Amino acid sequence: MKTTYYGHASFELEAGGKKLLFDPFISHNPLAKAIDVNSLKPDYILVSHGHGDHVADLETIQKNSGATVICIAEIAGWLGNKGIENAHGMNIGGGYDFDFGRVKMVYALHSSSMPDGAYGGSPAGFVIYADGKKIYYSGDTALTMDMKLLADENLDWAYLPLGDNYTMGADDAIKAAGFINCKNIIGMHYDTFPVIKIDKSEVRKKFESAGLNLKLLAIGESLTL
Ligand code: NI
Ligand code: MN
Repeated sequence: MKTTYYGHASFELEAGGKKLLFDPFISHNPLAKAIDVNSLKPDYILVSHGHGDHVADLETIQKNSGATVICIAEIAGWLGNKGIENAHGMNIGGGYDFDFGRVKMVYALHSSSMPDGAYGGSPAGFVIYADGKKIYYSGDTALTMDMKLLADENLDWAYLPLGDNYTMGADDAIKAAGFINCKNIIGMHYDTFPVIKIDKSEVRKKFESAGLNLKLLAIGESLTL
């Protein structure tokens, strides 16, 4: 498996021979200006919730690629109203076997509405089961006791937000790593806006002191999982 960072909470994950793209917010992110949105051709786009900093490039990339969007039922309906029929609606607690592997939609403690004000359903996270590995993408979330439900999954890697203000910050992300029982963490949702700027060296030190392997990828950087 390989993952590539596109800034903020957007990553590509190569899994089961397919390209999965999470939460595309690229063309509106000045930090990601080196990434050409039109070059992205995922097979699937996974959307955790409806906020603009997670869906800004969703329609463009879906139209360019024909990707199947995996999201909560309300967002699938919203896309359908915009003429994008290729969406696979799910809901919290449900899993489905796709051609690349299994996706389970899990709880996230946040809010969700679409950029046009439409109801976005519940925010969500995902557990991806593919290539013999288990990967958790939490989406935007607070630290929540429900994360303990993932403790016996033996997760290989987890993408967790740590920018604070809109999501949990680094200290709670460290607690979350304990709740989900996963030592390999990929940080997200930091530095994009002034209120979520982090001191990377301080955050790295905190994770290291907690015995955790934290990756803060440069935008455009890839990592083998
Ligand atoms: Ni959000
Ligand atoms: Mn967000």
